[in-house]
Formats: sequence, C-alpha cells, structure tokens
Amino acid sequence: MEETTEARTKLDDLQERRATILRHGGDDKVDAQHEKNKKTARERIDLLLDKDSFVEYGAFVKTRSTYYGLDKMDLPTDGVVTGVGTINGRRVAVYAQDFTILGGSLGEAHALKIVKMQDFALQARIPCIAMLDSGGARIQEGIDSLDGYGRIFFRNSRSSGTIPQISLILGPTAGGAVYSPAITDFIIMTRKTSTMYITGPAVVKDVLSEEVTHEQLGGGLVHNQRSGVAHFLAADDEEAIATARDLLSYMPQNFTEAPPFETTSDPADREDPDLRNLIPSDANKPYDVKDIIARITDGGEFMEVHRLFAPNIVVGFARIGGRSVGIIANQAKFMAGVLDINASDKASRFIRFCDCFNIPLLTLVDVPGYMPGTAQEHGGIIRHGAKLLYVYSEATVPKVTLILRKAYGGAYLGMCSKYLGADMVLAYPSAEIAVMGASGAAEVIFAREIKNAEDPQAARAKRIQEYKDQFSNPYRAAERGSVDDIIDPKDTRRKLAQAFAALATKHEIYPEKRHGNIPL
Ligand code: HXC
Repeated sequence: MEETTEARTKLDDLQERRATILRHGGDDKVDAQHEKNKKTARERIDLLLDKDSFVEYGAFVKTRSTYYGLDKMDLPTDGVVTGVGTINGRRVAVYAQDFTILGGSLGEAHALKIVKMQDFALQARIPCIAMLDSGGARIQEGIDSLDGYGRIFFRNSRSSGTIPQISLILGPTAGGAVYSPAITDFIIMTRKTSTMYITGPAVVKDVLSEEVTHEQLGGGLVHNQRSGVAHFLAADDEEAIATARDLLSYMPQNFTEAPPFETTSDPADREDPDLRNLIPSDANKPYDVKDIIARITDGGEFMEVHRLFAPNIVVGFARIGGRSVGIIANQAKFMAGVLDINASDKASRFIRFCDCFNIPLLTLVDVPGYMPGTAQEHGGIIRHGAKLLYVYSEATVPKVTLILRKAYGGAYLGMCSKYLGADMVLAYPSAEIAVMGASGAAEVIFAREIKNAEDPQAARAKRIQEYKDQFSNPYRAAERGSVDDIIDPKDTRRKLAQAFAALATKHEIYPEKRHGNIPL
C-alpha cells in the first residue's frame, strides 16, 4: 500500500520527537556529564542490559507542574529513563535518572515513572535496578516531589524480600533521596563521582561550622569503609554496572525461586591437602580466611560484599558444586576475628538477604568472642550482637557451619551453632569449642589455687594445659552432638558440597505470625 503524505508527516513528527528525547538535556549538558567521567542514563542502561533488550516505558512523559515556568521548559523523559530488559537472559526492571535534565531532580511525573517500574517489577516478580544521579527533590515542585519520594520508599519497603532490589549511585544523591537506596538490598557506589548525604556541605557548615567536601562527607569510600551504607565500591560507571550484573547471577528472580544453578568444571570432590596447613596451630596467630574460601568455592571465585567495612568479618557470595551460597566467615587477620557492633550488623543484614532469596548459608567460624569494653557496651553491642542470634535462628535456608579454630562463648553460639538451627556442623581437628580460651578459663576457675601455690606460674601452666586437654578440641562438642562430624581439612569442598546437596530440598514451616520483632 502506498504511504500517504499525512502518514509520512506523522511519522516524521514521531521521529523528530523521539530524536529530541534521545538527546537528553542537550549536547552541552551531555558533554558536561562526560567530562565528569559519568555516562548518560541511556549509556548506562545499554551497559547494564543485554544488547537490544531494552523496552522503554514513558519516554514521552512530561511534568504537569506549572510552577517557576516548568511548563515552558523542555524536560524530555522528565529526567528519568525507565523500562524493562534482560541481564544474561533474565528479565529486570530498571530506571536511570538523567542528570542532564534539571540535575536528575525528582518531580511528580519523574516519581510516577519510577513507581510504575517498581509496581511492574513486583507484579512480574523480577529484580528492580535503580541507577541514581540526582540533585534530589525537584525544588520547584514542592510537595509533589516529596510525595513522590514517599511513594517510592513505600514500594521499596513493600517489595523487600519479594524481589531483589539493587541501587547504583552514579552521581549525587542528596536529601531524603538517599533513603530509597538505603531500603534496597545492595548499594554500589563509584569512588569519585558518587555522593550520598542527607544534607550537603553548605548546610553542614551553616549548622555546625564544619568544613567538609562532598567526597569527605558522603563519597563512595566513606560509605563503603566507615558508615557501611554502601556494599560495593567501583572505580567508575562501567565497573559499578558490571558489579550489578555479577551480583544478580547469584540470586533468584524472586523469593519463590531458587538461585540459578551454574555448572562448573571444578569437581565438587576436589581434594586440597594444603588446607591442612593454612590455619596456624597457635590460636593467636592470624591468617587470611579468604585463602580458605578460595580453596573451597567453584573456581576459587568469591564475590565479597562490604569488603571495606568491618573487615573482622567476611561476607559474600560463591558457588559450591554449582549452587549459590552466602558465606559468613570470621577474619582472624583483623582484630582476631572478634565480633563487634559493625561486624554483627554487616553479617546480620547479609544473612537476612540470603534467607529472603533461598540462598543457603555457609558459616566459617574462628571467633574469640564478642568485643569487650565501654565503647562497644555503650554503643549497644548487646542490641547489635543480638541481631546475629536472631537472624541465624530466623533463617530457614540450609545452614552449614564449619568450625575452623576458635569458637568461644556467646560468639560460638552467634556464629550459627547447632542450637541456632545449623543443619550440619562440621569441625576441623584444630577446632576449640569452649566457654572461653584456656588461659582465661584457668585464671577464673583456679584463681585462689594459683594465688596460693608455691610456684604460681607452674600451677597456672598446669591448669591451663588441663583445660586445653579437656576443651581445646572439637571432641567434647561432638560427643554432645553439637558438632555433627570432624573432618580432614583436605576434604572440605567435598564435605560441604555433600552437605548442601543433601539439604537442597529442605523445607521448614515457620510458626504463624505477622512478622518477628528483630532487635534493631
Ligand atoms: C531542581 C535542580 C536540583 C533540584 C540540581 N538542579 N538540583 N533543580 N531541583 N533539587 C539543577 C540545577 O539548578 C542545574 O540547573 C542543574 O540541575 C545541574 O545542577 P548544578 O548545580 O549545575 O550541578 P553540580 O554543580 O554538579 O551540582 C550538583 C548538586 C547541586 C550537588 C546536586 O545541584 C545541588 O546541591 N543541588 C541541590 C541539592 C538539594 O539540596 N536537593 C534537595 C534536597 S532535599 P541548570 O538549569 O542550571 O542546568 C530533598 C528532600 C527529599 O531531596 C526528601 C524526601 C523524603
């Protein structure tokens, strides 16, 4: 059929309108974005999704606000690109704020586009990925912007535990805008180009007379290392986006599914005799628990979460025999692997994520205890440490615990002991499971005897040795059934793969309730 002039004109009009939309906020704004070493919203979406998989929603949406001449401005997409696409063939909903359009600020229409994607993701039960780069609430739109944030926070919270939600901070995130990512499961920040703060340096100076730069106040490093707000630090947009793609490979699309199984050429029964010698027999000598992890996971791969925060505990994703697992390990290399407030928070949040999304837990234990002292007590170590007990007990996914060396006191219990519901507890022959270390124990029980002895030093040494012989091993615990088996370290990978395979169909019914009341 011949094309009519009218149809041609309409098509030309459509193409022209679309071309305008694709130009973002204009060439000068796009250049400025690139000069800051930042990609545009569409470039980011292209990097995130499989080629040609993006289906855009709401490209023609405009603000209906008339305040401050907003109706006279050309704000294509209203500053946020939204749609659906695939990552490694699996569907995700995505939105990317466009800083070239009024600083990516969030007005009513912008917010409603995000809300549409959040609703879509929840109904389709697919992950929702947010790429943020925004000056926060669009000041000209007043209450409409604030209410927009309210709608987004509400959906972030209601979707939590149903679908995975990941936030990439790729520019400024100011004001209340920070709370949407904070409710999502993971935050990835870039080192130089991203910031998160509830009030910027100008307000800080005004109110507190403190001089601070944007980066010092809320840059990527600060939030990865000090506040623990962010989970991953990337060099730039590309690395941040690659991190999000990797991260998704360990998780299912929603809480009803199992994580994807990935076949591996690494045999599940691979022996590793070096594991016999990696842990120093002197319980006070450090080693890097990541060396152990690398020897037991498929291909030695481990995606560490919160790498820079609370390094005395290590958490992250790996696969064993093709199955995703979440690993929680005390890190003897930092503060002897002691559990403090930050370590408890870090591990608890990770464990809860894994439990939400059917990812089994592997806990590697070498822990001297909870951190003593006024700083920790007054900071609420009781409240924070309790989270770990709560989340391990609450978790119904398969839980396998391997005691490598020290497992003392409350921290032994806290690191997924048998009676917090571990399905299988294994121990190395080097394990020491006791109320406390032998020297401390001897000092308490035999204080009077040691003090009154003719040779107190010899008396102390004798009692320490006695306590060691009694408890500095895994056998008393195994006699009680608190440890299910004591294994040769060279067989670790095989034993763990067997344990997870045996538990693959574990199904635990939870007592009826609305929800528990986790100590926060
Ligand atoms: C409207 C905004 C804006 C905003 C930036 N712009 N933020 N427009 N509302 N919140 C506009 C600027 O006017 C400018 O427009 C363009 O975006 C780019 O901004 P620049 O300042 O030129 O960019 P840059 O120097 O890179 O600085 C980025 C910035 C800064 C650090 C984000 O713009 C800034 O401090 N913005 C205000 C941040 C803020 O206070 N937001 C409100 C927070 S309160 P032109 O036309 O000149 O290009 C909040 C409450 C939410 O968000 C509460 C939810 C519960």
